[in-house]
Amino acid sequence: MNTTKQITIILALLFGIMGTCFGYTVSESSRQQKEAEHLNDRNAWRGAKIYVNNCRSCHGHQGLGSEEGAVGAKLNTPAFLILEEDNKYGAEPTSKFGSVDSPGYTDIKAFVKNTLLCGRAGTYMPAWSEKYGGTLSETQIDQLTIMLTTGRWDLVEEEIEKHDEENNTNPDEVLLTDPSGLAITSENCGQYNAVQALKFRTRPDPRLNLIGDENETSVKDEAIVSNVPTGPMVKGLPVDQFYAAACAVCHGVDRQGIESVGSLPLLPSYLTKDDDFYFETLVNGRAGTVMPSWRAQGLSDEEMWNLVEFIKYTEP
Ligand code: HEC
Ligand code: HEC
Repeated sequence: MNTTKQITIILALLFGIMGTCFGYTVSESSRQQKEAEHLNDRNAWRGAKIYVNNCRSCHGHQGLGSEEGAVGAKLNTPAFLILEEDNKYGAEPTSKFGSVDSPGYTDIKAFVKNTLLCGRAGTYMPAWSEKYGGTLSETQIDQLTIMLTTGRWDLVEEEIEKHDEENNTNPDEVLLTDPSGLAITSENCGQYNAVQALKFRTRPDPRLNLIGDENETSVKDEAIVSNVPTGPMVKGLPVDQFYAAACAVCHGVDRQGIESVGSLPLLPSYLTKDDDFYFETLVNGRAGTVMPSWRAQGLSDEEMWNLVEFIKYTEP
């Protein structure tokens, strides 16, 4: 072999290697994207399993909470969705409490994760983190957070079918119906309260921001579009919307009361005492029950009077 030939071969090899590297770099970002999706799927699936074993009894088979007659809040809601490109496993929220006024995706993640870690003081939502006396590791809490913020209720449904068949469980007996055996979370490790939860529960469906999405109109039709509000307000919301976001979780969307929570109906026909009595109930809450003091939650007297007016004198 002469030198020229050798050089040609070496050059050819070099170009070959460079070419491979170049191709690899080009496909790297789409490969990373695919891997991230794959990882989210796997974690959402693990989250779904954890949900079935730990959360279903209070939040319902479909995650609809009080809408299924369950004790817990509604978790299956577009308000908690984080769209793919922003939803990476293990990515830490940028702030613990976030901007409560207009929550973005990091704030939603912080809200969901923090509620899982710490529970919610004064309610039946327990702390789950091992750090606060719960039974789940931080990894498991991240997996649940991914399941909830990617809205993978299809995986929960699959897991429920499997679980109930393997364990011979009757799905009708899974939901807790008697609150007397439940403990009220007392420790406060800096978690969100009911009023802070409002902005998250009422956050608009993030899919509405997708301009030119072909499903845009159907998604829009589903969403509750709030017009310019008139009439009595509470915390920046018309009183009926405040009720739906803050009280319905315990008193029901139709205000009939929820047996499994031990709450009472909030309808004119049931509220037969004078207005002051119900105002006092809102101001102080009811000791020994999960009915919180709404003064302690930050409502003004005027806002509480608006609520008394609403529950006592308007039909749903
Ligand atoms: C013993 C019943 C119970 C169990 C078990 C339970 N929760 Fe909850 N959870 C609640 C209640 C009640 C609330 C609503 C608290 C309130 O009124 O603010 C809640 C609230 C939440 C919230 C906040 C939602 C919002 O709109 O404020 C999240 C997220 C949540 N739970 C997730 C979970 C997950 C995930 C599990 C399983 C690991 C779980 N919960 C297990 C009772 C429960
Ligand atoms: C975390 C659950 C929870 C939330 C949230 C909640 N309540 Fe209650 N509420 C209860 C329970 C439980 C009772 C029953 C207490 C008892 O046994 O005396 C109750 C009782 C009441 C009563 C007394 C009714 C009567 O006939 O004596 C009023 C009024 C009331 N709630 C209004 C509200 C309003 C308005 C909101 C929203 C701003 C709200 N509650 C949010 C759990 C809740």
